[in-house]
Amino acid sequence: MATAPWWENAVVYQVYPRSFCDGNGDGTGDLAGLLARLPYLAGLGVDAIWICPWYPSPMADGGYDVADYLDIEPAYGTLHDADELSAAAHDCGLRVLIDIVPNHTSSRHNWFAAALRDEAGARDRYWFRAGRGPGGDAPPNDWASMFGGSAWTRVEDGLWYLHLFAPDQPDLNWQHPQVRSEFERILRFWFDRGVDGFRIDVAHGLEKDPELPDAGPRPAAGLLSITAHPAWDRDAVHEIYRAWRRVADEYTPGRVFVAECWVADNRRLARYLRPDELHTAFQFDLLKAPWRAAELRAVIDDAVAQAQAVGAPPTWVLSNHDTTRVVTRYARSQPDHPVEPHWERARWAAERADLDLGRRRARAAALLQLALPGTAYVYQGDELGLEEIENLPDNARQDPTWRQSGHADVGRDGCRIPLPWSAEHASFGFSPRGATAPPWLPQPAHWAALSVAAQTEDPHSVLALYRAALALRRIYWAGASGAIEWLETPSDTLAFRRGAAQCLVNFAPDSIDIPRGFRVVAASQPDVDRTLPTDAAVWLTPR
Ligand code: GLC
Repeated sequence: MATAPWWENAVVYQVYPRSFCDGNGDGTGDLAGLLARLPYLAGLGVDAIWICPWYPSPMADGGYDVADYLDIEPAYGTLHDADELSAAAHDCGLRVLIDIVPNHTSSRHNWFAAALRDEAGARDRYWFRAGRGPGGDAPPNDWASMFGGSAWTRVEDGLWYLHLFAPDQPDLNWQHPQVRSEFERILRFWFDRGVDGFRIDVAHGLEKDPELPDAGPRPAAGLLSITAHPAWDRDAVHEIYRAWRRVADEYTPGRVFVAECWVADNRRLARYLRPDELHTAFQFDLLKAPWRAAELRAVIDDAVAQAQAVGAPPTWVLSNHDTTRVVTRYARSQPDHPVEPHWERARWAAERADLDLGRRRARAAALLQLALPGTAYVYQGDELGLEEIENLPDNARQDPTWRQSGHADVGRDGCRIPLPWSAEHASFGFSPRGATAPPWLPQPAHWAALSVAAQTEDPHSVLALYRAALALRRIYWAGASGAIEWLETPSDTLAFRRGAAQCLVNFAPDSIDIPRGFRVVAASQPDVDRTLPTDAAVWLTPR
C-alpha cells in the first residue's frame, strides 16, 4: 500500500529567524542559533520547520524584501550555514521548508537598481507607468498598499512603480519571461541544496490585470479583507504554479509547496490545489474564527469538505508572524464580539485583554487543532503561550505598517518579539552571554516565567501540553481517517471522533460531563477527570 506523503498530516513549526535564537550575540536571530535549537524542535515533536525568508535583505519588511534569492542574509549566516542547517535538521528527522517571495523583490535587488537607472528593458520586469492628471502627478490608479497609503511611488524621472506592500517592495511583472525563468532557477537552486519545499508568499498576487484598472471603493487595506480586486487571485496565476509543480516533480521524492493565498473562500483556494498545481495552501478560517462552537464547527466542516473535494489535506493555522498572537485574540473574544485578527490592531487597543482567559482558550485550541486531520502549523512561541506585546515603545517599532499607516496601525512587531529561552540573561537566553547588542525588539520582563527553561520545569505549562499533545497525536490521530464524525453534545460544545479517539471541547460557561467508558489521554487543563470545565478540551479513548 502506498504511504501518504509526509506533509499530509505533518505538524510544521514556523521559524521567524530574526526572533528565534541569536547565536552570535548581535541581538538578531540567526542560523547558528537555529542550528543550536534543533534538538529543542525535534524534542517538541514537530515534523518539519518552515523558515521565513533568510535571504539578503535590507529588512524593510522583515526579510520579505529580498535583495538576492540565491544567498543568505549576512546577519543570519552563510550559504554554508544553510546547508549545514538543512543537513542537521534532516538528521533530527525534521523536514525543511523555506519561504519564497515571488510577488515583489526588494528595491535593492539588482533588477530594480537597473530599472531605476532605466537600463534598456529593465523596467519591463516591474510595473512602471505614467501618472494621471496634470503633469502625471497623480498615481496611475487608485490601488492601495496593504500597509497603507497608495500602492504607487514616483521615481525621479516622473514615472511611478507599483508596490502592493512597502515602497521598498516593487511588484514584479510576471508576464515577463525572464521573471518566470528566473524563479524556476531559484526553485531548483534550493531544491538542489536539499530543501524539502517552499511556502509561497502572497501566492494569489502575482498576476495583475494588465490594464491596471481602478479597484473602486473598497474596505480598508488588510490581508484579511480581500475581495475582488484587479491585483488578486486572477486566473492567469495558475499557469505559474503548473510550471512550478513540474519543477518540484523533477525531484525524488517530490518537493512540496504550501501557498499563502488570502482569497475569498475555500472554493477559490481549491483552485490552487488542483492535481497539477500546488500541494497545499494555508486555510486561514480557523485563525479568523471567534472562540465559539458553532463557528468553529462550520470552519472545520468547510475546510475538510473542500480539501477532500480537491484531494489535498486540510491545513490549520492558529497564528503566524502577521496576525495577533492567539492568546491575545482569544483574550478578547466575547460571544458578541467576533475575533478579527486584522492588521488594524489599533481598534482593539481600548479593550483590556484577559490573558489568563486567552491562554486557557489557546491551550484548548491547541488540542483542537492537533486532533484535526491534515497539516497543522505552529507559530514559534505559541507553544510557550506567548501573548501579543501591544505596548512596545513607538521608537522600537519596525513594521513598515506603522509608518505607512500614518501611525494608525501599530503593525505586527508585537507577535515577533524574540523568544525567551531561559530566565538567566538580559535577553532570556535569546542571545548568548556577553552579547554585544540587546534583542532587536524588547522583551517584556515577565517572559522569564514563560521561557522554555521555566516551562520545562512545570508539568502543567503550555510547553508541557504541546510536547505531550505532539507525541500523542502520532499515536491517536496521525493514522486516523481524514473524515470527522461529529458527536451529539450539549450546546456550545464540540465533540468529534476520528478513528478510535475523540476530541471534546467546552466553550460553554459551565462544566460538562465527560462520557462514561472513556479515558482522558490529554487535557488542556490539569486535573480533568469526570467533568470538563469551561474553555477546555480533552482527547478521549475508549477504556
Ligand atoms: C506576506 C507575509 C508578510 C509580508 C507580505 C509581503 O503576507 O506573510 O509578512 O509582509 O507577504 O511580502
